[in-house]
Parts: sequence; structure tokens; C-alpha cells
Amino acid sequence: MTLRSIILSFTCITLGLAIAGCRDAPGKPAPGTEIGRPEQLLSFAPLYRQNCSGCHGSDGKGGAAMSLANPVYLATAGVADMERITSVGVAGTLMPGFSKHAGGMLTDQQVHILAQGMLIAWGKPDALGGSETIAYESSSLGDAAEGHKAFTVFCARCHGQDGAGSTLDKATRTGSLVDPAYLSLVSDQSLRSTIIAGLPEQGMPDWRSDFSGPGAMAMTQQEITDTVAWLASHRLPTPGQPYLARHSNPD
Ligand code: HEC
Ligand code: HEC
Repeated sequence: MTLRSIILSFTCITLGLAIAGCRDAPGKPAPGTEIGRPEQLLSFAPLYRQNCSGCHGSDGKGGAAMSLANPVYLATAGVADMERITSVGVAGTLMPGFSKHAGGMLTDQQVHILAQGMLIAWGKPDALGGSETIAYESSSLGDAAEGHKAFTVFCARCHGQDGAGSTLDKATRTGSLVDPAYLSLVSDQSLRSTIIAGLPEQGMPDWRSDFSGPGAMAMTQQEITDTVAWLASHRLPTPGQPYLARHSNPD
């Protein structure tokens, strides 16, 4: 070792120690305790907790809005659809747009992490158990009259002949699916998603229905589309009409 390199390495060590020493300077935040800028948050769990759990439930279920932790839903919607909806929201419903260009707070990268994270955290590779996938969105308008027939076959035993709800057992009652106030809060896609994916925690089967054995029957794409059309045909343009009522009763 030459004198020159000894001096050099000594300088390096001293310098290194001096820099390291600064890390412990009073008032300097310890590593790991610094709060990053919001757009630097790049992991799924805290992103989901901060932005989504309030409506969709802490583990993707049990919230007021649809459960996202449903493997059948996740296998049908996929990353691209969930990314689009998370980004721009669903107009006319409580689902806001989260991306910066839709007026939200999240970067495109964060929206992607959320969509992909849901699939990784809650999806199952064999969610559909070999069944063919159903198209997430419908490419055609349904036929409401045909939809009523499909509803009678697949839904009426739990939701009542006319969709107004029924009592399943002591613990379970289904609410009305044809109440205009309810329909004014959900999109057709949301109805379709629920029919496709079911509500496993509440005992509602997915589109393959829960008939099993010989003659087992799944709903067809057309029957799903028609059922949504029949439910949607109960929508009113101005549900509740609060302003009209107020104007006609001036006090
Ligand atoms: C203020 C409540 C609220 C918050 C917060 C919220 N959502 Fe939603 N979300 C909803 C509602 C309500 C719907 C159903 C909208 C409809 O009728 O189509 C929905 C629908 C969705 C859907 C589409 C479901 C379908 O039918 O395919 C996805 C995906 C989704 N939300 C993801 C998220 C993610 C990810 C977050 C967090 C970044 C989030 N949501 C935060 C209320 C919320
Ligand atoms: C085995 C019983 C069962 C069958 C069959 C069934 N459901 Fe359900 N469904 C339920 C239960 C239980 C709920 C949760 C209680 C509620 O929301 O009324 C529910 C909820 C729903 C919801 C969500 C309501 C909300 O509050 O957002 C929709 C939409 C729905 N069902 C549509 C259908 C349609 C359409 C069919 C037929 C294709 C169907 N269901 C078949 C039991 C069933």
C-alpha cells in the first residue's frame, strides 16, 4: 500500500463517518419515519386502505359498495376494466374517479397498482373452475320481456316473482331490486357484475347458478343482458322528484 492510498482511504473513512454522523443529528428524522409525498406511496395495501376501504370494506368485502374481493368478479373484470373504473369512476353513482386527470389524487401508476393488487390479493387462478368466462360488459341492449322470463327462472326464488324482495329465512331478507330509488343509485354494469359474480357472503350464487348435477344450468350471456334490461326498465327519469313535490306545496 502506498502512502498515497493510505491517506486516500483514511480520508474516505473520516468523510464517511462524518456523513454517517450527520444522520444522527438532532431533529433529523430517523430512516423509515419520513412521510413521503402521496404519489410516492406505491404499495397496494395502504393505497387500498386509504382510498377504497371506506366503501368497499377493509378486506374488499363487507362494505356498503360491492365486494371486490370476489374471485369470480376479479376473473371476469380483469386488470384493464378495474383500472379504467378506478381511474374515471362511474358517472351518476357514488364511485368517484381517482386519477389526477379525472380530478382525483392518484397517479396512473397508483391506479395500476390498485387494480393489479386486487387481483393478486383476492383473485384465484381457478376462480371459474373451468367454466368459460362471461364478457364483463354487454355489447348489446337486452330485451326486457325476455329478461323477466330469465328472472323468473334464476332469481325469483330469492328476490320474489316481481323482484320486490322476499324473506328467505329468519336471518335473510332480500330488498327490492325494482325500487326506482335503488335503481337510481346503481349502474347497469353494477347489476351485471353482481349477477355474474354473485354475493358469496350473502348466499347469492354467481351466473352459473347453484343448480348442480344433471341438467345443471348456467345463465347465458343473453339471459344476463336481458335480466339487466328488465331490472333497468323499472328506472324512473326523476326518482323521488323532491323538487317537484316541494314546488307543488309552497308554504
Ligand atoms: C364513496 C364510495 C366509494 C369509494 C371511496 C370507492 N368506491 Fe368503488 N364503487 C363504489 C360504488 C357505489 C360502486 C358501484 C357503482 C355502480 O353502480 O356502477 C363502485 C364500483 C367500483 C368498481 C366496479 C365494480 C363493477 O361493477 O365492476 C370498481 C372496480 C371499484 N369500485 C374500485 C374501487 C377502488 C379501487 C377504490 C379505491 C381507489 C374505490 N372503488 C373506492 C363506491 C366507492
Ligand atoms: C339463493 C338466493 C339468491 C338468488 C338465486 C339470487 N340472489 Fe340476488 N341476492 C341474494 C341475497 C341474499 C342478496 C343480499 C340481500 C339484498 O341485497 O337484498 C342479493 C342481492 C342482490 C343484488 C344486490 C342488491 C343490492 O343491495 O345492491 C342484486 C342486484 C341481485 N341480488 C340480483 C339478482 C339477480 C338478477 C338474480 C338472478 C339472476 C339473483 N340476484 C339471484 C340472494 C339471491
